[in-house]
Amino acid sequence: MKSFKNRTAVITGAASGFGLETCRIAAREGMNIVMADVQADALERAAAEIRGLAAEVLPFRLDVSQAHEVEALAEATVKRFGTPHFIFNNAGVGAGGLIWEHSAHDWAWVLGVNVMGVAHGVRVFTPLMLAAEKADPQYEGHIVNTASMAGLLNTPNMGAYNVSKHAVVSLSETLYQDLALVSERVGASVLCPYFVPTGIHQSDRNRPAETLAPGAKPTRSQRIAQAMTGKAVGSGKVSAGDVAAKVFDALRERRFYIYSHPTALAAVQTRMEDVLLSRNPTDPFAGKPEIGAELRAALRAGGQD
Ligand SMILES: NC(=O)c1ccc[n+]([C@@H]2O[C@H](COP(=O)([O-])OP(=O)(O)OC[C@H]3O[C@@H](n4cnc5c(N)ncnc54)[C@H](O)[C@@H]3O)[C@@H](O)[C@H]2O)c1
Repeated sequence: MKSFKNRTAVITGAASGFGLETCRIAAREGMNIVMADVQADALERAAAEIRGLAAEVLPFRLDVSQAHEVEALAEATVKRFGTPHFIFNNAGVGAGGLIWEHSAHDWAWVLGVNVMGVAHGVRVFTPLMLAAEKADPQYEGHIVNTASMAGLLNTPNMGAYNVSKHAVVSLSETLYQDLALVSERVGASVLCPYFVPTGIHQSDRNRPAETLAPGAKPTRSQRIAQAMTGKAVGSGKVSAGDVAAKVFDALRERRFYIYSHPTALAAVQTRMEDVLLSRNPTDPFAGKPEIGAELRAALRAGGQD
């Protein structure tokens, strides 16, 4: 996209982290902003802040995993601002632990938000954008989906999160290729951040009660995953604001892959070589054996679960 002024952004997960930082930049660029999030109080605070930057803001509370709620988001957006130009399918939740220890409810929650949330955003907004491209020679559109480095790697004890983010990478690459078949001015990107300080390790704050099995308690591996992710996210050196700036750079350059930590791609290369050489998956902790040792020891320790 070459210009942002007076154009419209729809941002999910807008009340915190990457979503909120992206709203801040969108406001400075003079965009109208639809801020969508499931957490009503945080959304209200965030919307007040962004309005304070002189942007036109439509706050919209929704659960992106619900098809009809994303459809309602699109209706409200078009009614208020017309067809949007930048869609950021970014809302997501984290959940780790040994892959066999997720309950059916855990799987439904993580895949519902992280995968179906993005699928609904793409399903609902892309046809509107393609119609606008046909009708208006000045129209430009771009969809950015938030995956993760977890969509390119399979670090152990990350559970359904890895699965969901691989799906988002696949969905986004497919979207890119499909758009190239039918469109010149609607593009797509995938955001693959590594550990960045945000609220992602506290995703349970927004978990709907109906997605929890009655009486369910986190298992040992899930508690360990929570603690390790919290530590890794909390000590991240790249900020959410830096990542949001990279999203806007990618929009300007029509660049597909957006990385927060390009150096982490060495591990992706190793994984790709494993695949191509038909080699068994490399130990992800080979470079930092103390972390692997700590994780193994914690998982194997006796005591109460
Ligand atoms: N922070 C990291 O280290 C990191 C790394 C890789 C990928 N990501 C991804 O970045 C995206 C944004 O997360 P973040 O790190 O800014 O975390 P965050 O928790 O700060 O922000 C996520 C936002 O999504 C909202 N949300 C959660 N469930 C929702 C739902 N069902 N419907 C609508 N909104 C919902 C939350 O209320 C929150 O405001 C996520 O997709 C996450 O998986 C984060």
